[in-house]
Amino acid sequence: MGRGVMFMLMLCILGVAVMGEDPYIFYTWNVTYGTISPLGVPQQGILINGQFPGPEINSTSNNNVVVNVFNNLDEPLQFTWHGVQQRKNSWQDGVAGTSCHILPGTNYTYHFQVKDQIGSYFYYPTTALHRAAGGFGGLRIFSRLLIPVPYPDPEDEYWVIIGDWYAKSHKTLKSLLDSGRSIGRPNGVLINGKTAKGDGSDQPLYTMKPGKTYKYRICNVGLKDSLNFRIQGHPMKLVETEGSHVVQNTYDSLDVHVGQCYTVLVTADKDPKDYYLVASTRFTKYSLTGKGIIRYTNGVGPASPELPPAPVGWAWSLNQFRSFRWNLTASAARPNPRGSYHYGQINITRTIKLVNTVSKAQGKLRYAINGVSHVDGETPLKLAEYFGVADKVFKYNIISDEPPADLNTITLAPNVVNATFRTFIEIIFENPGKTVQSYNLDGYSFFLVAVEPGKWTPEKRKKLQPS
Ligand SMILES: *[C@@H]1O[C@H](CO)[C@@H](O)[C@H](O)[C@H]1NC(C)=O
Ligand SMILES: *[C@@H]1O[C@H](CO)[C@@H](O)[C@H](O)[C@H]1NC(C)=O
Ligand SMILES: *[C@@H]1O[C@H](CO)[C@@H](O)[C@H](O)[C@H]1NC(C)=O
Ligand SMILES: *[C@@H]1O[C@H](CO)[C@@H](O)[C@H](O)[C@H]1NC(C)=O
Ligand SMILES: *[C@@H]1O[C@H](CO)[C@@H](O)[C@H](O)[C@H]1NC(C)=O
Ligand SMILES: *[C@@H]1O[C@H](CO)[C@@H](O)[C@H](O)[C@H]1NC(C)=O
Repeated sequence: MGRGVMFMLMLCILGVAVMGEDPYIFYTWNVTYGTISPLGVPQQGILINGQFPGPEINSTSNNNVVVNVFNNLDEPLQFTWHGVQQRKNSWQDGVAGTSCHILPGTNYTYHFQVKDQIGSYFYYPTTALHRAAGGFGGLRIFSRLLIPVPYPDPEDEYWVIIGDWYAKSHKTLKSLLDSGRSIGRPNGVLINGKTAKGDGSDQPLYTMKPGKTYKYRICNVGLKDSLNFRIQGHPMKLVETEGSHVVQNTYDSLDVHVGQCYTVLVTADKDPKDYYLVASTRFTKYSLTGKGIIRYTNGVGPASPELPPAPVGWAWSLNQFRSFRWNLTASAARPNPRGSYHYGQINITRTIKLVNTVSKAQGKLRYAINGVSHVDGETPLKLAEYFGVADKVFKYNIISDEPPADLNTITLAPNVVNATFRTFIEIIFENPGKTVQSYNLDGYSFFLVAVEPGKWTPEKRKKLQPS
């Protein structure tokens, strides 16, 4: 139904647009359980309008996006629009604490503006490990027509939603954590909700016309594993990441950490046949690989079974990260784009250093930041603030900007740090553990400055992107 309704509403809105309001786009989502078999065995998945992965949100900078979500699961639900800045409405961010859950059998309408942003993003359900069952999908933000984009229009655009995947249901995974165990290793890697079998029965995910250039939007929506993504025989020209146009380097493969997205251009200039898209785990003792097929429209012949190998080791990944550079001369969708200033000249107002630990507390596996393991209050924290009763629900700043000396004693509490509007805050995440940690930095304009091995010291700032 989506398209028809959207079209009608768009027509109504044109009148409003003349009066100066930014355009609206509308989506209605019916969230249900459904049977999916991403690894060949049926399991319960979370579908949006019957789809896994969910439908894309296709927007243009400054659009008002309205999503009416009907929760037909048996559990409370929330969605986050990962990477979308919530300048005015932080309660639209859809993580526990910013808004109420959407209770089973009810609906809630999210309304946010993709203001002054461009690029590839994704949305996902944030609570109760729902993401392990689906409910995620792509969210693209185009530049407005007036704003030049630093590359020619591609022939078409293709989503590549990659992620590790568990055969266990989200409820089983959750009960594992609640009983103090870990969720263990995933069972596979998916590309757009499946992985190719390689037995000749696979249908292509996408087709490419010979000689044409396509835009691929690659996002890692998985639970924990960093993935290396590559396309057999086809280098990728990186054009955007983290919402900024970048210097257009070409890569044979890209390390995509959980939560990251990259926009690349790929030209179909090789022998006309099938090729594998490959996503495989990085920095893990186990090795899992997901595959998908792309086909030349004039293609004859299957993809070669010989998959391009993944790079090895951390250093490769850190070096690749250091090669990403904003294109400071490319116009962007916004008056003050990320990257329009030189990092080294920013006056940092405040530095917050966060160190994560994991331990068992009260029978559960507890992850903590600077010694505090977050628990949700019964009242959503934003709501408590709104009604002026924050002091009855939580305390601000129970962690300090420096980790305590003793990180083994864990406090369970809502963990809320406040900050001053329009300040530049440098946040350092230091991970003393053995596995990769990922954080959802959402709602305001965060950008990644550096990834470095070892412990952080202020001297490390000198090694960051040149100013
Ligand atoms: C959502 O989907 C379920 C299952 O297909 C259906 O029973 C229900 O009527 C749908 N609800 C809405 C609001 O479309
Ligand atoms: C997405 O939006 C762009 C820009 O408005 C438009 O050209 C394109 O046709 C849309 N695609 C889909 C699948 O709706
Ligand atoms: C629920 O959906 C109905 C029908 O589309 C809509 O009129 C109503 O505003 C929605 N309620 C919420 C809280 O979003
Ligand atoms: C940066 O963007 C400008 C403007 O579109 C373009 O002319 C230039 O080639 C880009 N530079 C690089 C290094 O990609
Ligand atoms: C940083 O502070 C210095 C000294 O107060 C000032 O001259 C400079 O303009 C500030 N830089 C920025 C980017 O605000
Ligand atoms: C942060 O919280 C403290 C304690 O409630 C308060 O005194 C202070 O004004 C707040 N600071 C900001 C920047 O909001």
